[in-house]
Amino acid sequence: MSQPIKSGRRTFLKSAAALSAIAAQAQLVAAGEKEPVRIAVVGTGARGCDLIRALTTIDGAEIVGLCDDYPPHLEQGVKFAGNNPRKFANYEELLDRVQPQAVIVATPLYLHSKMCLAALDAGCAVFCEKTMCHSVEEARQVAARVAEKKAVFQVGLQRRANAIYRQGLAMVQAGMLGQITTIKAQWHRHNSWRRPVPVPRGHEDYARLERRLNWRLYWDYSQGLMAELASHQLDIANWYLQTTPRRVLGAAGIDYWRDGREVYDNVFCIYEYEVAPQVAPTGINAAVTGDGKPYTARVTYSSIQSNQYEGASELIFGTRGTLFLTQKKGLFYREAGVDDPLWATDGRVAKDAALLTAGKTLKMTNDPWAHRGSPFEIDAEGDDTRDELVEFLNCVRTCDAQTICDATTGLRNAQTVLAANAAFKSGEAVLIDG
Ligand SMILES: NC(=O)c1ccc[n+]([C@@H]2O[C@H](COP(=O)([O-])OP(=O)(O)OC[C@H]3O[C@@H](n4cnc5c(N)ncnc54)[C@H](O)[C@@H]3O)[C@@H](O)[C@H]2O)c1
Repeated sequence: MSQPIKSGRRTFLKSAAALSAIAAQAQLVAAGEKEPVRIAVVGTGARGCDLIRALTTIDGAEIVGLCDDYPPHLEQGVKFAGNNPRKFANYEELLDRVQPQAVIVATPLYLHSKMCLAALDAGCAVFCEKTMCHSVEEARQVAARVAEKKAVFQVGLQRRANAIYRQGLAMVQAGMLGQITTIKAQWHRHNSWRRPVPVPRGHEDYARLERRLNWRLYWDYSQGLMAELASHQLDIANWYLQTTPRRVLGAAGIDYWRDGREVYDNVFCIYEYEVAPQVAPTGINAAVTGDGKPYTARVTYSSIQSNQYEGASELIFGTRGTLFLTQKKGLFYREAGVDDPLWATDGRVAKDAALLTAGKTLKMTNDPWAHRGSPFEIDAEGDDTRDELVEFLNCVRTCDAQTICDATTGLRNAQTVLAANAAFKSGEAVLIDG
């Protein structure tokens, strides 16, 4: 039998070239085992169905039960699962009757904590969609239960499984960006976020169904744009800066979609991180890391719903270069004017670029973002939703509690995004517990 692979988080720095092999290898491990992992999915709405579809492509994953208390969504989930799993409207009944090995929680945010706790108490491994919980107190409680049970627990921040983001981190840690001073991230879209309600206004079920289907728009169930979108991108900031922010300030409002929603339709914030100086690697990737003392890095974030210009991306600004990151594309721009003999200009650029990326080849690209000369494109691809599930299942099989996005990481992510909502509501800067 093949040996289980280590989680990608611990192995990818050894060789970036091994990156693309990780998911495939994990897949082989899963396939090589005799017993499939018995999985239940709670919440078979939009994301639950994405995850069900991904699970059906993974050998060694068996969907044994589905739960949703809204019958049209439950039937949709059954259709995608394709293997006629047992169906439930009540998650406690599912846990009791099916006794799955692993549970995926893909329900509205306000339900994450109680469903995770119930699954953990039933002895299950848990994959919880982001954001981990509706409040920091709930996230702390879930993290404590995970620790107590030594459970396998993963939060669905799938960029942690994305080959481009992993390669970007390897480049940061190899010193290619120098000192990261600033991150700019945004998620700009042009839509109302509203879902249609299947009965007319005035129908006795309209109000109930409207709130159920549009749970994202109401504070009782949701934490708005910060939890739904920013959580992914601020996870990148926490991951790349290897810490959590100390302070956040910002402003937000409902200024375009004035349709009865409660959550903001535009958010703007600045986070401050106290960053430990990067230990400069030696040799060809020796980095310029400032004066070697801790320093403050600032991260700006915006999300708007009235214009999609810029879309969703993160820009990681370092003293030697800039990374432009999305789930499907990663570009590296050398910083103009940096006197760096490592970067040849005589046709050896491609060769040097390959060397400088700790083993991964970057290719030149003619991207419109190339305002600072031609960037190098990160040559990596994958399906991060599927890949995060492959890694989770690998941890379930091997009882490895060090998942790629564990409960502590999820708690820190929740603290980060929820602090911004507190800052918007109070109009004051908010300090974030370390
Ligand atoms: N990682 C990602 O990229 C990503 C993308 C989208 C959504 N999400 C997350 O997935 C979660 C679900 O989002 P969604 O867009 O699928 O929402 P959704 O409304 O489409 O689905 C949620 C489902 O939960 C069901 N549900 C509600 N209460 C329930 C209960 N008591 N018992 C059983 N089922 C219940 C609803 O009927 C619905 O089908 C959220 O946490 C969201 O942030 C993650």
